[in-house]
Amino acid sequence: MKILAIESSCDETAAAVVEDGRRILSNIIASQVDAHIVYGGVVPEIASRMHVEAISGVVAQALEKAECTMDDIEAIAVTYAPGLIGALLVGVNFAKGLALSSGKPLVPVHHLRSHIAANYISHEKLEPPFLSLVVSGGHSHIVNVKSYTDFEIIGQTMDDAAGECMDKAARALGLPYPGGLNLDRAAKDGNPKAYSFPKPKVQGSELSFSFSGLKTAAVNAIHNAKQKDEEINIADFGASYISAVVRCLTENTLKAAEITGQKKIVLAGGVSANSVLRKEMEDICNKNGLELYYPELFLCGDNAAMVGAQGYYEYISGKKAGAELNAYATMPIDKAVF
Ligand code: KG4
Ligand code: ZN
Repeated sequence: MKILAIESSCDETAAAVVEDGRRILSNIIASQVDAHIVYGGVVPEIASRMHVEAISGVVAQALEKAECTMDDIEAIAVTYAPGLIGALLVGVNFAKGLALSSGKPLVPVHHLRSHIAANYISHEKLEPPFLSLVVSGGHSHIVNVKSYTDFEIIGQTMDDAAGECMDKAARALGLPYPGGLNLDRAAKDGNPKAYSFPKPKVQGSELSFSFSGLKTAAVNAIHNAKQKDEEINIADFGASYISAVVRCLTENTLKAAEITGQKKIVLAGGVSANSVLRKEMEDICNKNGLELYYPELFLCGDNAAMVGAQGYYEYISGKKAGAELNAYATMPIDKAVF
């Protein structure tokens, strides 16, 4: 069964054709990085306008690359939440128009669910139940994935997301957008013990995260050094900072595995591309008899193939939307409206 998937939640206009939730027939991404780089981050209005310009061509390319027409497509899956509202609306509206004109069913897909589903493409045999650490620019969750469509958040950040925390420190260090990726690269050969960062004190449950203290500590240290004309070693500083963020993520994920008894750990979201997170999680899983899964690098960031993967499972579970489908800037993964 072929699903045409559309994603426009942030700064990538993407469309893909995915077969049976697992096989990519095409995966087209028009990235807007060059347009946002001068501003040091995503400018929502520019993102929306660029989605409008790109979306028709991107969807046409996805069909062409997959060597199919709308006649071969069973359903249209689209990211409807969460994300930048103006950006999401472009994808949702386009998908609605296409569903109406082609008579194909429309399947709304939650963005974070699709990040988790990227793993179904990278790991043919992976099936729920498992525990997922979902770490993106806007979210840091530990999710108990009970089935393809049943999710329970068991830990989350009380303030900033891990990705936001990486981006802000990168920016303060003068690294270009996208910050997390460039920080990861700059820190590659750094000494993670060179700088010390406080271990966050977290309100909430034992599985909650807090990253705002780390972020503020990093930004203040960089500004203080600048004022005193002191040199910051970017590789060492980046490595120490990433190590502090990753420690919070790995410790809580291990605790969550102990509490739930889950043996499979699945990384998801843009930050799952981080080399230190992958390595540290690998070590912890090996030591504790846990199986680790993460998406191939090209599926970690926003893309439509993952929307096609989750869209398939949502569709076969009976989920469909009509012409009234709206987009939502926020939407919990476990209590999604659709
Ligand atoms: O999932 P994603 O592409 O978009 C959202 O849904 O937010 O995640 C983007 C986030 C950004 O904060 C970006 O800096 C971070 O993922 N990121 C990374 C790396 N690659 C992307 N963070 C750390 N290391 C990386 N290699
Ligand atoms: Zn994302």
